[in-house]
Amino acid sequence: MNELLKKFNLSPKYSIKWSNYFDIYKNLLSKYKKKKITLVEIGIGDGGSLYMWRSFLHKKSNIIGVDLNPEAKKLEKDGFKIIIGDQSKKEFWKSFFKKVGKVDILIDDGGHTNIQQITTLVESVNFIKNGGKIIIEDTHTSFMSKKGFNNPSKYSLVSFSSSLIENLHRRNPNIKKKMNTFSKKIFSIEYFDSIVSFNIDEKKCGKTKNLENNKKLKKYFIDYRFKKDLNKNKKNNWFNIFFEKNFSKRSVVYKVYERLLIRKYYNLIKK
Ligand SMILES: C[S@@+](CC[C@H](N)C(=O)[O-])C[C@H]1O[C@@H](n2cnc3c(N)ncnc32)[C@H](O)[C@@H]1O
Repeated sequence: MNELLKKFNLSPKYSIKWSNYFDIYKNLLSKYKKKKITLVEIGIGDGGSLYMWRSFLHKKSNIIGVDLNPEAKKLEKDGFKIIIGDQSKKEFWKSFFKKVGKVDILIDDGGHTNIQQITTLVESVNFIKNGGKIIIEDTHTSFMSKKGFNNPSKYSLVSFSSSLIENLHRRNPNIKKKMNTFSKKIFSIEYFDSIVSFNIDEKKCGKTKNLENNKKLKKYFIDYRFKKDLNKNKKNNWFNIFFEKNFSKRSVVYKVYERLLIRKYYNLIKK
């Protein structure tokens, strides 16, 4: 059985997690198990997950819980550090990191609304150690219209993080936009069902450059991307052949034709 699931089942307090999370966490967190780290979980509930993290991680790891509900403070008697505050407030995060300093792992299992998830991500990105992660749980709320989530929308965590993908690509010199904090801090973003993980590592986020090996062996390495396909493929239909013969692949007409083909692929993922 998955080790974290075992710890979840053995936790002495109530907790609730989706069944797929345990394999995802195995994938994301196994490498930290033997290290002394600081893990912050937003959203304490009854404290069941704090116990789970404590028994999963190195015994000297520092586990901090954050919740808006002042009742959560009672868990301090069980040896957890608890900080009360509203994750949707920028000011809360300023005072939080002033008190706590940089952390390794920040898990958001709070209220799951757009403003809560996005504020938590943006306000904590500068306070995660290199090699650390911001993990947002329950991101299916980005697609829920009911229960006050009003999604899907441009303002959801998943929409926001999809826009961040462009920021990551600013590290490529072909993209002329200036690097921002997100380009400089977020090495990669991993998407799972209902979890998005932001992998933070400033050291891996420099401008990239093209590297070439064996230059003398370069023979067939020709840019073919806009050349015509002159191979006789019987499966090509007349439409295909017509466009191939009559239009350059750089022409506007060919681009419209390509978009029609891509729209068909879009239809597949919308089904
Ligand atoms: C799903 S429960 C957390 C469950 C817990 N992590 C577990 O796995 O057992 C969500 C928690 O988020 C807290 N919460 C809701 N809105 C919040 C906010 N704006 N800031 C901080 N915590 C919030 C709630 O008080 C509640 O304890």
